[in-house]
Amino acid sequence: MLEFELKEREFEKIASIVYDHCRLNLRGGKKPLVEARLAKRLRALGMGTYKDYLALVEADEEELGMMITSLTTNHTKFFREPEHFEFLQKSFFPEVLEIGIRTLRIWSAGCSSGEEPYSIAIEMRESLPDIGRMDALVLATDISRKALRQASEGVYTVESVKNVPAALRNKYFSKSSAGGELLEVKPVIKNLVRCRHLNLMDPWPMKKGFNIVFCRNVMIYFDKVTQQGLVGRFQRVIRPGGVLIVGHCESLAGMGQGFRCVSPTIYQKI
Ligand SMILES: C[S@@+](CC[C@H](N)C(=O)[O-])C[C@H]1O[C@@H](n2cnc3c(N)ncnc32)[C@H](O)[C@@H]1O
Repeated sequence: MLEFELKEREFEKIASIVYDHCRLNLRGGKKPLVEARLAKRLRALGMGTYKDYLALVEADEEELGMMITSLTTNHTKFFREPEHFEFLQKSFFPEVLEIGIRTLRIWSAGCSSGEEPYSIAIEMRESLPDIGRMDALVLATDISRKALRQASEGVYTVESVKNVPAALRNKYFSKSSAGGELLEVKPVIKNLVRCRHLNLMDPWPMKKGFNIVFCRNVMIYFDKVTQQGLVGRFQRVIRPGGVLIVGHCESLAGMGQGFRCVSPTIYQKI
């Protein structure tokens, strides 16, 4: 017997709200996940029924955001999918140096708690000796305000920083003033990253001109039509010759018009 009963019509209502807001598809077997994740929210709010909870979600945009955060997967880690960082190190940044590019814009779209944009910024700092005199930024966006808060703070457990090679860990992380066994990304890296709230389904306020867009392990949660629309929008904001990088379970198969496949997850705008 579940602590809170989620009636079929309430599940349908939640599924429509979430799909309309961020195109996350919960229909087709996700009811147990919704029950498990939202029961925690109901408990935290001291609510007894999903009817009351839905009334709150419909009246309060902040709770809608909390519900979306509870239902999305924020799993991430530093230097996840190392082949992408190898691409930056061995191919992309050497070209930046060779061509003499001075303005560099990289977008981590769906950055979660910040491990991805900070890994990119570390690689950037390591590969571009002149970075202090360049106009270089990593834009980090996510729909989850909770994840973004952590990204902006740049404070991580020792355990989660284990994936960073020791030499880079010693160079770019310091003991956090927040105490405990926490490490903080140093300002020299933080200053390269700008964290902003953005639902990818909304209009994008940024101008075009990205050299690289990382959108990894985000599109996998969207249906094909949404994925196609998003890839088209990325194509329009990436500079000619720029690159779109997706996650290892994703691909642009059948929707990569305007891109040349460099490797199964790396696409260059033609
Ligand atoms: C699994 S994490 C991936 C994090 C990182 N890109 C990586 O590969 O390690 C997926 C992220 O996408 C975000 N997300 C899901 N739907 C979104 C949307 N419509 N707009 C912006 N971000 C979204 C989630 O909040 C979550 O932080």
